[in-house]
Amino acid sequence: MPEIAKIIQNKALGGNLYRLVLESQSLQKAVPGQFVHFLVQSQAEPPTWDPLLRRPLSVYDLEEEKASFLYRIVGRGTKQLANRRPGEKIDLLGPLGRGFQITQDPALLIGGGVGAAPLLFLAHKLKEKQQKFVVLLGARTAQELAHAGDFAKYTQDLFLVTEDGSVGRRGLVTDFVPEVAAQFKVRPKLYACGPNPMLASLAAFAKEAALPLDVSLEAAMACGVGACFGCACQLKDGSMARVCADGPVFPYEVLDWGEKNG
Ligand SMILES: Cc1cc2nc3c(=O)[nH]c(=O)nc-3n(C[C@H](O)[C@H](O)[C@H](O)COP(=O)(O)OP(=O)(O)OC[C@H]3O[C@@H](n4cnc5c(N)ncnc54)[C@H](O)[C@@H]3O)c2cc1C
Ligand code: FES
Repeated sequence: MPEIAKIIQNKALGGNLYRLVLESQSLQKAVPGQFVHFLVQSQAEPPTWDPLLRRPLSVYDLEEEKASFLYRIVGRGTKQLANRRPGEKIDLLGPLGRGFQITQDPALLIGGGVGAAPLLFLAHKLKEKQQKFVVLLGARTAQELAHAGDFAKYTQDLFLVTEDGSVGRRGLVTDFVPEVAAQFKVRPKLYACGPNPMLASLAAFAKEAALPLDVSLEAAMACGVGACFGCACQLKDGSMARVCADGPVFPYEVLDWGEKNG
């Protein structure tokens, strides 16, 4: 059932990134890795249905009655979302999909760009469970890591990587995963979200190092609830899965890392 939630904050963080905070009842039961499908139509009069389809965003964090989201403006839906103001109402459907399978293992969380979004909520839960975890975040520039400060709330084991070296180490986030993973006394489980080439590279590393890895996939979505197969991804056994209902989080080894997912 959709919920009409109240916007508490919709703040520009820099680098085209925004933090949206809502007062929501239905999202109280969300788990890390689940997402919410938003209607982002403009509030202008007369009302429009553009864009018609909802836009999916991962739950960024959940604190008391407040659910937050981290999003990057990429097109007209996210641009319209950025124009929404505190006090306005927004129509949402969620929480949707399957989240991360949290195990007892120490955890290495790896986020590429705005792919960091589902990892803050995961960090929050791991802290509550008093589990050891390390966060490795990468982006092109320091501006695109404007969300990094939010992670400092839950851990001091936070490593930053930028392609231009403007903050943290210089390079791709995947360049540093072997080094950081090797620092764990007990073999870690990896949890990742980011662009598909980053996830494909992590899948190759996880296979070689024999480490468990959960990845959160992105796909263009229509219904968001498993009814249209518009978000299909290819599995290794030759079958297809729905990113919205069977995912968005999958253990890496069930996915086909060929052309479609890689
Ligand atoms: C399960 C799930 C969770 C997601 N969680 C988040 C999140 O927490 N934060 C967030 O910012 N985004 C997230 N996304 C991506 C987000 O849904 C899209 O960026 C958004 O729907 C784009 O809508 P739009 O109308 O602004 O762009 P559109 O008008 O639909 O697209 C504009 C252009 O941007 C391209 N585009 C669309 N999506 C992306 C993308 N993800 N990256 C780069 N280019 C893109 C399109 O191909 C097109 O060329 C998630 C996606 C999924 C499937
Ligand atoms: S978006 Fe319709 S089945 Fe996934």
